[in-house]
Amino acid sequence: MFIAQEFIRTKRDNKPLSKEMIDDFIKGVMDETVTNEHISAFAMAVFFNSLDMDERTFLTQAMRDSGNVLQWDNLNGPVVDKHSTGGVGDVVSLMLGPILSACGAYVPMISGRGLGHTGGTLDKFESIIGYNVTPDDQLFAKVVKECGVAIIGQTSSLAPADKRIYSIRDTTSTVESVAMISSSILAKKLAEGLDALCLDVKVGSGAFMPTYEKSKELAQSIVTIANKAGVKCEAVLTDMNQVLASTAGNAVEVFEAVEYLMNKNINPRLHAVTKALCSSSLVIAGLYKTEEQAGKKVEEVLKNGKALEIFSKMVNMLGGPLDFVEKYDTYLTKAPIIRPIYAQQTGIVESMNTIEIGMAVVGLGGGRMKPSDKIDHSVGFSQMIKLGEKVDSQTPIAFVHAKDEDTFKFAEQKVLNALKIGDKAPKIQEIYETVTYDENQK
Ligand code: URA
Repeated sequence: MFIAQEFIRTKRDNKPLSKEMIDDFIKGVMDETVTNEHISAFAMAVFFNSLDMDERTFLTQAMRDSGNVLQWDNLNGPVVDKHSTGGVGDVVSLMLGPILSACGAYVPMISGRGLGHTGGTLDKFESIIGYNVTPDDQLFAKVVKECGVAIIGQTSSLAPADKRIYSIRDTTSTVESVAMISSSILAKKLAEGLDALCLDVKVGSGAFMPTYEKSKELAQSIVTIANKAGVKCEAVLTDMNQVLASTAGNAVEVFEAVEYLMNKNINPRLHAVTKALCSSSLVIAGLYKTEEQAGKKVEEVLKNGKALEIFSKMVNMLGGPLDFVEKYDTYLTKAPIIRPIYAQQTGIVESMNTIEIGMAVVGLGGGRMKPSDKIDHSVGFSQMIKLGEKVDSQTPIAFVHAKDEDTFKFAEQKVLNALKIGDKAPKIQEIYETVTYDENQK
């Protein structure tokens, strides 16, 4: 018989938990025989004593199986997705999904909303009039099958045990455990029924994890659990020391994504990260032998317009306008104020406090502080300055898209405070390293 206090004591005393014990705990989380007090005590025990890779895998699988796990039969290619730990101007998913589909993969991407300083893929898609982020299961499956990609929002039937545990971790200062974060992220992703998963773990001033070492620890943890659970997975550590795209916001990022897919405006930083994540995904999915071969295919489907065509079809099948990619400029709502801001001194951008830029988007109304907040899709930044670029009082460092003068001034000040102007060009890197599966990771 499962006794919650025995289970908690085992972890408190740093003894191993078996698969059976973890399965019983998650059963109790679901039927509510496990109380909030039990969950919070368990989360605190894990915070201090952690979980080894086997325990993390058992917890991930039990939370994954607490709800629906999608099944994909009769598809002509591998089922793949990407997860990012979140950033500012991180519009990669909008291009990556269609690119992977154009290269032969199927991408049932279930993504989230922005919270805190990071943007959310779902909010970006909701900038597109008519786009339904919560289609029923049949439509979701139809779009994945016919389009090769569907990007939608989370449903309550996906890993519901994680939902309950996460909300308790959130209010008991126990979120910051690599073991629990890994299991929480993966339980939801693995419920998509994937063959392969590529992780984008951000590093730097706008990253979720506070240091390079912690980002790498999270990457190694997720890669190990996913592979143990039978899903091919590798992680790419990418830079978040500055806004990734040229834009940050919702409609402005969709605008940039469409122009990227049209080969009209390709930000080299954004391209480097998108291509690296696409190439990694295609190799772990078994579609290409080397990243170089995969990278060539990525360039091909961008150049020949195939990825754009798939994006357009997905938008339309999910309720957006048929001619969205022809008339994106008219469909995407514009803020009443779109005005440049200037540096107050001459020099080189040495560093950027990227969290502050993300919070400036929130202050403009483009993000939220709590899940129930409404957002303004039209606001944000475009033509954002990059690290190492020269600034002076005549050259715009960004264009602010604001709903009124007060929020414009707030955002202007936030950006000016976030930039360190000096005389030294910083070292700039987009991709740090790839973390692959090591069977011996404990
Ligand atoms: N995101 C998640 O989904 N879970 C966590 O625990 C932290 C971030």
